[in-house]
Amino acid sequence: MNETLSYIDSNGERFVEELKDFLRIPSISANSTYDPETRRAAEFVAAEAVRIGLENVRILETAGHPVVYADWLHADGKPTVLIYGHYDVQPPEPLELWTNPPFEPTVEGDSIYARGSIDDKGQVFMHLKSLESLLATTGGLPANVKIIIEGEEEVGSPNLPPFLAAHKELLACDTVMISDTTMYDYEMPGITYGLRGLAYFELHVVGPDRDLHSGMFGGAVANPINALCELIAKMKDSAGRVQLPGFYDNVVDVSPKERAELERLPYSATDFCSMINIPITVGEAGYSDLERLWARPTLDVCGIWGGYQGEGAKTVLPSKAAAKISMRLVANQDYRKVADQLRAFIQEHKPSGVSIEVIELHGGPPALTPTDSVPVRAALRALETAFGTKPFLIRSGGSIPIVADFEEQLGAPVVLMGFGLPDQNAHSPNEKMNLSNYHRGIKSSALFLQEYSRMYAAE
Ligand code: BES
Ligand code: MN
Ligand code: MN
Repeated sequence: MNETLSYIDSNGERFVEELKDFLRIPSISANSTYDPETRRAAEFVAAEAVRIGLENVRILETAGHPVVYADWLHADGKPTVLIYGHYDVQPPEPLELWTNPPFEPTVEGDSIYARGSIDDKGQVFMHLKSLESLLATTGGLPANVKIIIEGEEEVGSPNLPPFLAAHKELLACDTVMISDTTMYDYEMPGITYGLRGLAYFELHVVGPDRDLHSGMFGGAVANPINALCELIAKMKDSAGRVQLPGFYDNVVDVSPKERAELERLPYSATDFCSMINIPITVGEAGYSDLERLWARPTLDVCGIWGGYQGEGAKTVLPSKAAAKISMRLVANQDYRKVADQLRAFIQEHKPSGVSIEVIELHGGPPALTPTDSVPVRAALRALETAFGTKPFLIRSGGSIPIVADFEEQLGAPVVLMGFGLPDQNAHSPNEKMNLSNYHRGIKSSALFLQEYSRMYAAE
C-alpha cells in the first residue's frame, strides 16, 4: 500500500490536469441542448476506465443519458465493491456570478473552481485515480470492483431504477461505495449514514381567463397570486410544523441516543450563519439546527411566479400564478403518500374562485444506512489513515434518490464516503473542490478497498 500511496503523491499534479479535462465538458443533464456534451462526458469516463486498466468497459443506453459500466474481477475469493457516481452536472446559471467561466477549470490556492468540481466529477475521479494507482503499482486490486457512473443524477435519476432491475446480475456486489456527499468540516472527514428524500411539486393556480384592469375588477374577482400565497402560508404553522394531514405519521423521530451523538458534534450557529450571511437560523421548534437540517422534513417554496414583473406600476390583476414546492423527507416518509397529502390539503384549504392543478415533478425516498456494516467500518479506518484524524458519523440534508434502490434491489449495504464541504457552492456559482481533499480522497478510496477486503475475509 505504501507504494500505491507514494504513487498518488508523485502523480498528484497530473491527476489534477486530467480532472480538468473532465470538468471542461458541459454535461448539463437538465438541458437537452447539451445532450451531445453529456454523452461526451460518458465517453470520457469510458475512455479513462480503459486507460487505467479496467475491463468490460461499456456505455449502456437508457431512455435518457447513458450509464458507464466497467469492472475488474480478478480478486478471487475477495468481495465485490460497486462504485457509483454521476458525470452530469447542474446548470451553471446565473453565469454573471461566476468569477471564472464554469467550464474553464481554474486552480486558485488549494481549490479548483468549475461546475461539477465537487458534485460529482471530482469525487468520481478520486475513485478512478485510486484504481489507476493500485493497478499501476500492484498489478491488481485488493477487491473486485465494478463501476457505474450515470448521467441523470441531477434530474432525479429517472431511468436508473429500471436499469438496476434489468442489470441485477451485472451489478451484483457485496457493497456499494458512493462519494457524492460532504464531510462535516475541513479536517473533519466523515461517513454519512442518513440522506433526506424528496417530493417536488408545481402548483398552477388559474383565476379569470385573462389579465384584468385592477380597478374595474379588483375586489370582486379572486386573484390567483393572492390565493396561492394564502394557501402557501397555511402550509406551515408558526412553529415551523408542516400542516399537510398525516405528514409526520411515518417520520422516525431522532432517538435520545442519536440526539446525544449529534450534540457531541462541534456545531457553531455563528459560523453557520456567517458562511451564508444570515443573522440567525430559523426552523421547527424543539429541534437543534443539525436535527432540522438532517433528520427533520421540510417544506420550501423554490420558485414562485405570476403577474406583471416589468418596470413601473401596471394596474392589472393576473389570470394565473404558479409555484415550485419542494419537501425534503426523512425515514420513513413515502413521497407518494406526501403527494396524496398535498392534494388533500389543497382540497381542504383551496381559496374560492380559482382552480388549482398539482403537478408531481419528482420524488425520491430517504435513506438511513447501517453504521456498523463491515464496509462502513472499513471506510472509517481508511479515512482515519488518509486524513490522520478520527472520522465522524454524520447525516446530510441532501438527497441521492437511488441509494434506497441500491439497498433494495441489490441487497448490499451502501457506504457514503463524501469529500465535499458545505461552503463549496455545489449547485451555486463558483463551485469548487479542495485539492488536498482530492488527494486524500484518492488515498481513502485505495485504503478502503484494502481494508474492506481484509475485514471481509476476517468476518
Ligand atoms: N450530491 C448531491 C446530493 C448531496 C449533496 C447529498 C450534499 C449530501 C450532501 C446530488 O448531486 C444532488 O444534488 N441531489 C439532488 C437530488 C435531486 C436532483 C433529485 C438534491 O439533493 O437536490
Ligand atoms: Mn451529486
Ligand atoms: Mn447535485
